[in-house]
Amino acid sequence: MFTLILSLLILGSVIPAWARPIAGSSPSSTTFQTQIIYQSPNSLFLENIAVRNSSDLLLTSVFSPTLFTLNSNVINGTLNPVHTFPNATSLTGITEYLPGVFAVAASVTNTTTRESVPGSTIVWSVDFNGQSPAVQPLAQLPGNASANGLTSISSPTSNKALVLAADSEVGAIWQINASTGDTNLVIQDASMLPNAPPPALGINGVHVDLASRSLFFTNSAQGTFSRLAFRMENGNVTPVGGVETMANILSTGQPDDFALDRQGRAWVAVHPGALVLLSPSKNAGNLTQITAVGNAQGTDPELEQPTSAAFGPGNILYVTTGVGQVVTVDTSQA
Ligand SMILES: *[C@@H]1O[C@H](CO)[C@@H](O)[C@H](O)[C@H]1NC(C)=O
Ligand SMILES: *[C@@H]1O[C@H](CO)[C@@H](O)[C@H](O)[C@H]1NC(C)=O
Ligand SMILES: *[C@@H]1O[C@H](CO)[C@@H](O)[C@H](O)[C@H]1NC(C)=O
Ligand SMILES: *[C@@H]1O[C@H](CO)[C@@H](O)[C@H](O)[C@H]1NC(C)=O
Ligand SMILES: *[C@@H]1O[C@H](CO)[C@@H](O)[C@H](O)[C@H]1NC(C)=O
Ligand SMILES: *[C@@H]1O[C@H](CO)[C@@H](O)[C@H](O)[C@H]1NC(C)=O
Ligand SMILES: *[C@@H]1O[C@H](CO)[C@@H](O)[C@H](O)[C@H]1NC(C)=O
Repeated sequence: MFTLILSLLILGSVIPAWARPIAGSSPSSTTFQTQIIYQSPNSLFLENIAVRNSSDLLLTSVFSPTLFTLNSNVINGTLNPVHTFPNATSLTGITEYLPGVFAVAASVTNTTTRESVPGSTIVWSVDFNGQSPAVQPLAQLPGNASANGLTSISSPTSNKALVLAADSEVGAIWQINASTGDTNLVIQDASMLPNAPPPALGINGVHVDLASRSLFFTNSAQGTFSRLAFRMENGNVTPVGGVETMANILSTGQPDDFALDRQGRAWVAVHPGALVLLSPSKNAGNLTQITAVGNAQGTDPELEQPTSAAFGPGNILYVTTGVGQVVTVDTSQA
């Protein structure tokens, strides 16, 4: 998805206007062209998505330990298994942390509490650069840590990368050094906690925006979209200042994962049935919020329970849903 160059982080950059906190934003509606390109025959809940440079999609499900691939150029194609992870029932986030190399979070979900079983979360590496995918563990997360959305910061020239994991349960972001497997806590914050008992989820999607040296994240239960500024210090992500809440999405539903586009706008999958576009206002530098697809009631059959979104080459956004669909959204009119 977004490959970010660590070395650029040492260059100065100005925080863009939209990276400032926002007071109000008024939802309005615009229509973007959508197409359901895949429907799982058994409505497998699709959790997360990454797009390979071949435009094959990589798909995860919290109800399967298998990573799947789907040819996005074929309508109504077939999900093909890439790898089934051991000692896992669920896959969550996926991120391309070096060219052709993806990190995937696997865990055992407690079917009673819907929480991850402590000690069961492993972040794996899946490398597509060889004849067949090479799979190896990057790190086992400590204690009660869990991983939902993943993002990464990398320097392909030096083969260095960090994988960052959003922990929806303890309200935190974990950092995994891909070279060493060393795992440490970047931040644990009230803005990342669920504000209700399990199975409510706190921080869910997390993505890096290099231009503003920001980590953007959603909190599903709190219904927020927030920013955490960071700098690199000795090869580690270090927060700068506190979390700024930039939008309240709860009137539309519960935000899940999202994709940042080239202009730094966020396309947020919101349960039960909306794709919300958050972008800077041309007038005041404020964040504006529009419902790009679907609605807050979840009555649009083109977008039922959207869970995550990722861009391929060009302006096509691929959105996964909880009813087993992959929906394309043509964002070129945005
Ligand atoms: C922009 O945000 C500021 C501060 O949150 C607020 O005072 C102002 O009214 C907003 N402007 C517009 C046009 O929404
Ligand atoms: C794909 O499958 C759906 C039913 O799931 C059907 O309505 C649609 O016509 C199919 N599209 C193509 C191009 O085959
Ligand atoms: C799976 O879990 C068992 C029991 O904890 C352990 O012995 C085994 O090494 C694990 N397998 C892998 C591939 O991690
Ligand atoms: C796709 O990525 C692989 C590395 O995984 C690279 O070898 C190949 O050149 C890339 N292809 C294109 C068209 O960018
Ligand atoms: C799942 O959670 C329940 C309730 O807390 C607990 O009794 C049970 O032992 C847990 N199962 C696993 C596999 O951790
Ligand atoms: C894990 O969570 C349980 C229950 O919330 C708590 O008692 C325990 O101290 C936690 N362990 C760690 C290592 O955080
Ligand atoms: C990862 O750990 C190694 C060894 O401590 C360190 O040299 C490097 O800067 C760390 N960060 C990255 C992004 O590789």
